Amino acid sequence: MDRIRLLPIELPPASTISGSGFIKVKGKVSFLRRLTLGFVVLAALGLLYVPAYHSAQGPLLGLGETPLPGLSGHLDASHHVASIAQLPGWAYNKSRDLRVYIRPGNNTTVLSPTSICASPPYLLIVICSAVANQKARESIRNTWANKQHLDSLYNSTVRIAFLLGESDNDTLNSSIEEESQQYGDIIQEKFQDTYNNLTLKSVMMLKWVNSNCENAKYLMKTDDDMFVNVPTLLKTLRARVQSTGTLLGSLICNAKPIQDPKNKWYTPKYMYAERTYPNYLSGTGYVMSLDVAGKLYQAALSTPLLHLEDVYVTGVCAQKAKLRPVNHPGFSYVPRKMDACVFKSAITAHKVSSSKMYTIWKKLNDANLTCVSNPNQDKKLSTLSRTGRNVGYYVVRRRNMNRCI
Ligand SMILES: *[C@@H]1O[C@H](CO)[C@@H](O)[C@H](O)[C@H]1NC(C)=O
Ligand SMILES: *[C@@H]1O[C@H](CO)[C@@H](O)[C@H](O)[C@H]1NC(C)=O
Ligand SMILES: *[C@@H]1O[C@H](CO)[C@@H](O)[C@H](O)[C@H]1NC(C)=O
Ligand SMILES: *[C@@H]1O[C@H](CO)[C@@H](O)[C@H](O)[C@H]1NC(C)=O
Ligand SMILES: *[C@@H]1O[C@H](CO)[C@@H](O)[C@H](O)[C@H]1NC(C)=O
Ligand SMILES: *[C@@H]1O[C@H](CO)[C@@H](O)[C@H](O)[C@H]1NC(C)=O
Ligand SMILES: *[C@@H]1O[C@H](CO)[C@@H](O)[C@H](O)[C@H]1NC(C)=O
Ligand SMILES: *[C@@H]1O[C@H](CO)[C@@H](O)[C@H](O)[C@H]1NC(C)=O
Repeated sequence: MDRIRLLPIELPPASTISGSGFIKVKGKVSFLRRLTLGFVVLAALGLLYVPAYHSAQGPLLGLGETPLPGLSGHLDASHHVASIAQLPGWAYNKSRDLRVYIRPGNNTTVLSPTSICASPPYLLIVICSAVANQKARESIRNTWANKQHLDSLYNSTVRIAFLLGESDNDTLNSSIEEESQQYGDIIQEKFQDTYNNLTLKSVMMLKWVNSNCENAKYLMKTDDDMFVNVPTLLKTLRARVQSTGTLLGSLICNAKPIQDPKNKWYTPKYMYAERTYPNYLSGTGYVMSLDVAGKLYQAALSTPLLHLEDVYVTGVCAQKAKLRPVNHPGFSYVPRKMDACVFKSAITAHKVSSSKMYTIWKKLNDANLTCVSNPNQDKKLSTLSRTGRNVGYYVVRRRNMNRCI
């Protein structure tokens, strides 16, 4: 049974495919039904495995290759390039060498939190946030990432920072400076903060952490629409026998690039030429030890950029650095049921709006909250909601959550 199927296209629910009808009915009718069913199944499989859009003429660039400068000027090459839809911001001829944007030898930090790593934290949580999302940052500061709350609970060993790029809107960009002065929890790096630049954001995170917080034990990357249950996360991390080599999150296997230019997660062949992505962790939340952060950063500096942050960092770069991303059922990219007991045993929950953030935080801190422990809790955690069906840029078949390698 597939646990989760996230598809760019809606499929009929599994129950209409594996209905019990055809097994019980005998004779000709049954045969016809079987035949029909066979076609339905084949059609469904076709939808699963054949990309909706196929650009046979697309130039097949290996991941290790970057287009040569001046290639666009060449008549044949530009003819080829014109035949495939280019990715906004990452046109065929744009350099994908990370060193051009990350500038490893130079200080690219615009704003930095004061003394956040003066004494090395056990866990540093970096929340990747868009410049305009002040409201989301506000609700996170007032709930699960509240500084006073975490400091008193964990003697200041868990620290929080928001990571932003630069906005081309001057008003917005300069309001970040004020926000930084007020809260002292903003890291701003020198790059254009756009959706297709999220990979740069994550690699900038690795750069900043490796040069400003290298003695921390763990680093978590998450987003500003996420609820993170810090106590559960700490329990999980502290239970680990060995901290080094950790790369933990919600593992996604056998995902395939989407080649429909209208799709939000469109990936042209020139960005990624292989048929499937390496196994990777959902970018909604993943945790690594600092040795892993160093290796991933080094790998990124010699790996052509892929705009899908999670596939790139925890898949492509991890593979290059010979690191294995590992699944933990507490992490999830599927929105969870708004139930305090579900949130209590989870580590991450996706798509939590600022108002929901307050609601769930209040419920979690209600002294009267009682949850019966359920041996199937882990199993249930990842399957609670079906509303997340369409959130993937991949096609997943996941038989065993912990061993889909
Ligand atoms: C890339 O191509 C665009 C037109 O498609 C052109 O305007 C731009 O100058 C080219 N950039 C480089 C670096 O060749
Ligand atoms: C730092 O940046 C300057 C100019 O911005 C450049 O000349 C220099 O080569 C850079 N240094 C490194 C080590 O990248
Ligand atoms: C880099 O620049 C930022 C902003 O000017 C500054 O706060 C920080 O201390 C610098 N880092 C280093 C290592 O010089
Ligand atoms: C809290 O942290 C401080 C500074 O790191 C340390 O001196 C102190 O012993 C810690 N307290 C407890 C209860 O662990
Ligand atoms: C810049 O951001 C401000 C605040 O969000 C907004 O009111 C304004 O319209 C934006 N300006 C432009 C040019 O987009
Ligand atoms: C954004 O604001 C910072 C000051 O907070 C400034 O140093 C930087 O140049 C600004 N960036 C842009 C692109 O306007
Ligand atoms: C990403 O940021 C870099 C550096 O600021 C910029 O040159 C590039 O145009 C941006 N790309 C996108 C897709 O926004
Ligand atoms: C907890 O339960 C008690 C008794 O049912 C009730 O009086 C109290 O108001 C409850 N506390 C909260 C925070 O709901």
